[in-house]
Amino acid sequence: MAIIEVEDLTKTFGSHIAVDHLNFKIEQGEVFGLLGPNGAGKTTTVRMLAGLISPSKGTAIVKGYNLDKDSLKVRQTVGILTENPSLYEKLTALENMDFFAEAYGLSDPNEKQNRIQELLEFFELWTRRDDKVATFSKGMKQKLAIARALVHKPPIIFLDEPTSGLDPESSKEVRDLIAKLSQHEKSTVLLCTHHLEDAEKLCNKVMIINKGRSVVVGTPDELRDRINGTPAVEVTLKKLTSSVVEAAKKARNVTQVTVDESSCKLLVTLDDVSSGTPEIVKRIVEAGGLVLSVVVVRPSLEEAYLKLIKEEQR
Ligand SMILES: Nc1ncnc2c1ncn2[C@@H]1O[C@H](COP(=O)(O)OP(=O)(O)OP(=O)(O)O)[C@@H](O)[C@H]1O
Ligand SMILES: [Mg+2]
Repeated sequence: MAIIEVEDLTKTFGSHIAVDHLNFKIEQGEVFGLLGPNGAGKTTTVRMLAGLISPSKGTAIVKGYNLDKDSLKVRQTVGILTENPSLYEKLTALENMDFFAEAYGLSDPNEKQNRIQELLEFFELWTRRDDKVATFSKGMKQKLAIARALVHKPPIIFLDEPTSGLDPESSKEVRDLIAKLSQHEKSTVLLCTHHLEDAEKLCNKVMIINKGRSVVVGTPDELRDRINGTPAVEVTLKKLTSSVVEAAKKARNVTQVTVDESSCKLLVTLDDVSSGTPEIVKRIVEAGGLVLSVVVVRPSLEEAYLKLIKEEQR
């Protein structure tokens, strides 16, 4: 059974429909990406699923708890990094962590201390633990907010733009952390992000929403296939000759060969890349071509996203 089951989830603000009858499931241990343009309804969806605001219609079952009936249980079960995390600026990093650990019921002082130290060390904030949060940089606050969301070892973690404001090194650490949480601790992660490369690397499944409605749900691979991006093989040569081009055209299942003279590249489009590539390379080599590299070109998740959103807006 799915750990999160969303049924007809809807949120209206006045006459505006922010989230419009969403239905989806998230399996345990999955990293589920929620993608969509600004104002699509991602943050509103996450806030409902975390029990912070109530749906106008529809509901969700979160680890067996119903959003309407057991919203307190839902709040205790999940960890959430919100879009604009509010930390207590006048308290120190340690005091902030301590406050939330208590609020989540970590009563054993040793366990609490160890968990807080482990998280602050991971985010390189341990040496700054006694400084007031008001003196922290934007990225340091973001890291503290992520640490806070994880303090009670929640089985379900909602991360709304976790790498926003982080430097490249810290962003990578957060990405690695998300992968680790999902793979080793079997935590379930719902990730809202505009970084499609992150989503492509991290997510087992993604859902694109637009104007509150689901556009498409699937694995990143499925989404790429949806846009009919014809797979192709890009062959870079030391020198381009007409016999090499002719040789590539003769290979089985090749539908098109595009020549890029300036960079000495051939783009070969064919029906089945994995079975056809060796023959193409063999023919090129036999025709005297000096092959520098062979790369299978596939549409990225970003290309798929842009195309699917564009189709939706038509
Ligand atoms: N408290 C609120 N009151 C009124 N309207 C709201 C409220 N919260 C969100 N909305 C509206 O709901 C829609 C969805 O907003 P939401 O913050 O969920 O989008 P988002 O997908 O998270 O966008 P972004 O990528 O910019 O973070 C927007 O039109 C927004 O103006
Ligand atoms: Mg948002």
